[in-house]
Amino acid sequence: MTTLPLFAEDTSERARLNELCDQIEAHNFSYYVLDAPTISDAAYDALMRELIELETRHPDWRRADSPTQRVGSLHRTTQFAPLSHREPLRSLDNAMNTADWDAFYQRLTRALGAPPDTALCFCAEPKFDGLAINLTYQDGRLISAATRGDGHTGEEVTLNIRTLASVPQRLSQTVPGVLEVRGEVVMSHAAFAELNAAQQAAGEKPFVNPRNAAAGSLRQKDPRITARRPLEFFAYGVGACDAPLPERQSALLDWLGRLGFQISDLRAVVRGRDAALNYHQQLLARRQSLAFDIDGAVFKLDDRAAQAQLGSTERAPRWAIAFKFPAEEAQSRLLAVDFQVGRTGALTPVARIEPVFVGGVTVANITLHNIDEIHRKDIRLGDAVLVRRAGDVIPEIVRVLPELRPADARRIELPSQCPVCGSAVVRSEGEAVARCSGGLFCPAQRREAILHFASRKAMNIDGLGEKWVEQWLQAGLIAHVDDLYRLRFEELIRLPRMGEKSAHNLLDAIARSKSTTLARFLYALGIPEVGEVTAASLAAYFGSLDALCAADLTALQAVPDVGPIVAEEIHTFLAQPHNQTIIDQLLAAGVHWPDPQPADRAGQPLAGKTFVLTGSLSGLTREEASERLRALGAKVAGSVSAKTTAVIAGDEAGSKRDKAEALGIPILDEAALMALLQQN
Ligand code: IVH
Repeated sequence: MTTLPLFAEDTSERARLNELCDQIEAHNFSYYVLDAPTISDAAYDALMRELIELETRHPDWRRADSPTQRVGSLHRTTQFAPLSHREPLRSLDNAMNTADWDAFYQRLTRALGAPPDTALCFCAEPKFDGLAINLTYQDGRLISAATRGDGHTGEEVTLNIRTLASVPQRLSQTVPGVLEVRGEVVMSHAAFAELNAAQQAAGEKPFVNPRNAAAGSLRQKDPRITARRPLEFFAYGVGACDAPLPERQSALLDWLGRLGFQISDLRAVVRGRDAALNYHQQLLARRQSLAFDIDGAVFKLDDRAAQAQLGSTERAPRWAIAFKFPAEEAQSRLLAVDFQVGRTGALTPVARIEPVFVGGVTVANITLHNIDEIHRKDIRLGDAVLVRRAGDVIPEIVRVLPELRPADARRIELPSQCPVCGSAVVRSEGEAVARCSGGLFCPAQRREAILHFASRKAMNIDGLGEKWVEQWLQAGLIAHVDDLYRLRFEELIRLPRMGEKSAHNLLDAIARSKSTTLARFLYALGIPEVGEVTAASLAAYFGSLDALCAADLTALQAVPDVGPIVAEEIHTFLAQPHNQTIIDQLLAAGVHWPDPQPADRAGQPLAGKTFVLTGSLSGLTREEASERLRALGAKVAGSVSAKTTAVIAGDEAGSKRDKAEALGIPILDEAALMALLQQN
C-alpha cells in the first residue's frame, strides 16, 4: 500500500472541504431560496456528514461561512441593502456622430503625445442596453453582486444574481484575493416577447422594452421570480483586482471568458480611425438581427498601460467612448388622427405627430392598425407619445406617457361617416376593421381601385401614379378603371402640369396594357381576397373568363388555394351588375389576353400536379418559377393543403415549409426544382 505524503493529503482534503461548502451552499440556495431542490435529502445529508467529519478532524479549516454553522441559506429575500463598490463604476462619454468620434480620437493622440495620424488600437464591443452590475469574487467565489447605483454605492442583489446561469458562482480558475467583474444584465428579444405574452395572459402590465424587463426582473425581493426570468450577464470589464491583469483590454476580455463569463462574440480589435468607424457601421447594420438590444459600439484603448496613463474623470474614463446608434425611441406629441380609406373601404387611422427624429429619419405620420389598438393603448389627442422606429421597420406608437397627458386630451372615436364620401361606416360583428359602405361611389375607394388596377403586378400601366389618378378623377375624366381606355390626348393636354410628352407616354402605356394575361386581369379587378397567386390559380384552372364567371361555389372551391370564404367573395363580385358592366367595358375597349389554355391539360408533363413556392430562390424569381411550372401544366397555389403535390422551399422558407412537413408533403429545394423544370 502506498502512503501519500502528508501535504498532498492535506491539500486534497482542504480542497474537498471547500468544494463541499460550495456544493452544500448551492443546494441550500436551490432548496431554501428557490424552493426547487436539486438533490435528494439522503444525498444532501451524506454531503453534510462528510463536511462535519472533515471539520471535526481539522477545526482550523472551518470557514466562517460554512453551512455547518447555520440553518438554511444565507438570506431568503433580497433586501436591496446599500453595498459599496471597491472601485467606482464609471459611465462612458458618448459620441453621437463622426465629428464627436474624430474629436475623441484627436484628444487621445494628443494626450498620448502621438502624431495625429497614429493608428490607435481599440478593443471594440457592443454597448449592451441593459443594467450594469458589479460582481465581487473572493478567492474565485462569488460573494456579492450590486447594481450600479450612484457609481460608488449600489443595491445588493446577490441572491437574484445567483439565479443567473451565465454568472459563475465559482470561477473556472482560482483568482486569489478580490476580483470585481463588471458587466450588463440583459434579456433577449425572444425571452422578452415570451415574458410579455405571459404577463398579458396573467392580466399583468407588459414591460415596455427588454431593458425595463431585465431591470424589473432583477429588482425582485423574491429571487424565485428572478430565477424564472431568462436573464443573461455579459462581462465587459474589471474593477478592483488583487491578481495581475493582462496588458491588453482584448486579452482581459478573453481572460474573463476563460474564467467562465459570457463575453460578446461581436468583440474585435480595430486599428485606426477608419477601422473603428467601419466597425460601428457594420455593427449598426447587424443591430436588428441580434438577439439582444444594443445601443452603440464601445471603443476602449486596447493598451491598458495607456489607459492608466490617461486616467478617468469622476464620471468616465478618458480612454473609452460609447459611439451611440441613432435612438430607436423618441418622444413626440399626437396632433391629430385622420382616417384613410383604402381600396376595399377599410378605414385606417393615421396619427399625425409633431415631427421627431427617430431611428435615423424624421417621422411625422404613423399608421395605427385600427380603432381597437388606439383604445387598447389609450391614445388620446394631445397625448405625449413614445415613438419607435427600429431599422427599416415601420414606425409605431409604443405607448402614451400618461404623466405628461394634458388636461384637455380628447378620446379618439371611430367616425360614423366616411371622411371622404360621407357614407355610413360599418363594422361587422367581431371584425377589427371598419369600412366605408360607399363602395365605388366613394372617391377614395375609386382612386385606390384605379391605382391597384394600374400597378406593376396588375395591368402594369407605366407612369400612372397617384398624382395623375388624383388629377384625372378631380377633373372628372375618369371615375372607374374602364374610363382609362377612353381617355383622349386633347383632354389630357388641357390639364395643368401635363406636357405633350407625358400625355403621349401615359396614353401609350395605357394602350400597351390592353395586351395582358387572364391572371393579371383577374388580379387587377381587385376582387376581395384575390391576390396575385389566387388570380393565377383561377386563370390556370378555368382557362377563360367565361368559364370563371359561370362557376358556382363548388366549382370555385375545386381550385387550389380557394376556400369557402374566397369562393364566396369571387362569386359575389362577379355577380354584381356594376362589376359586370366594368368588365364588359374593358373587353370592349380592347383588353385581351392569349387564347384560353385547355382546362384539361392532360398530356402536359406536370398536368394534375400542384406546387407551392415559399422562401426566396437565387436563380430565378418566384414569379418566373411559377410561370415555368404552369407552362408545363402544373398548378401553383399560394397555400399548402392536402391537394399540394410538393412544396418548393427557397431560403428562409417559413410556415409553409413547416406545414408541408406536418402534412408529410414532399419538400423540394431549388436544385430539385431546376432539375424538374429541365427534365420536362
Ligand atoms: S465599459 C469604465 N462596456 O454603458 C468603463 N460599458 O453609458 C465603464 N455598457 O454604465 C463601462 N455595454 O452599464 C462598458 N461594452 C460595454 C458596455 C457598457 C454597456 C453600459 C454600462 C455603463 C454605460 C455607460
